Amino acid sequence: MGKVIAVAQQKGGSGKTMLTAQLAVALAAGCNVAVLDIDPQGSLTIWGKLRASAAKASVAVASHAVSGWRLASELEKLKAAYDIVLIDTPPVIDSDARRAIRAADIVIIPLNPSPPDLWAAEGTLKLAAEEKRKVALVFNRAPAASRLRKRMEAEIAARGLLLFSNALANRAGYANAFADGLGVSEISMTTPAGLELCALAEEVKNQLKINEL
Ligand SMILES: Nc1ncnc2c1ncn2[C@@H]1O[C@H](COP(=O)(O)OP(=O)(O)OP(=O)(O)O)[C@@H](O)[C@H]1O
Ligand SMILES: [Mg+2]
Repeated sequence: MGKVIAVAQQKGGSGKTMLTAQLAVALAAGCNVAVLDIDPQGSLTIWGKLRASAAKASVAVASHAVSGWRLASELEKLKAAYDIVLIDTPPVIDSDARRAIRAADIVIIPLNPSPPDLWAAEGTLKLAAEEKRKVALVFNRAPAASRLRKRMEAEIAARGLLLFSNALANRAGYANAFADGLGVSEISMTTPAGLELCALAEEVKNQLKINEL
């Protein structure tokens, strides 16, 4: 059965959809990957449509959209057919978010390294704890080093939460690749964006023990 990654964070615009797409492409280099869009905004679905006609798309990522009561059964089908299923969730805590988190082997929470983003993640953290799911935080739009980032790292460690050691910086390359239905790692694995994204994807694989599949 495939592994399920839910990308969730109540704060809007934190990078859930971008991260789902980028990780899907990086992970698809060695695995069969599907993405599932349960956000009515449908941004990941549009990315998937753009991808279908993107000449530079080098790896197959199957894109599906579903919500409500059909979510659980759709997920079962996808888990049977793919090694990894990534779910992009909307910026709300609702029954669909709970369904996605309940089905997840890991819940990845992107956040800007600043206190309001951690405060905004509390609802998602609580939901994941209620569902006894593994959680990992990842800094997005992160400065390479700053006092605030260090403070956030310390706060997250003090709470015993897992923070991926690879963060994503604020780079136009992420938004540009997304707009073309692509992932940065298939454009180039040697740009700063490609390098940090591949390093993050390795951390995700390690957490899911995917190299041992
Ligand atoms: N690291 C980054 N560098 C540059 N642009 C980024 C980065 N992360 C996200 N973005 C851009 O920021 C915007 C918001 O990102 P995204 O749509 O992924 O957030 P979201 O959490 O899915 O939002 P929503 O809560 O509305 O679903 C997008 O235009 C995206 O391309
Ligand atoms: Mg989104």
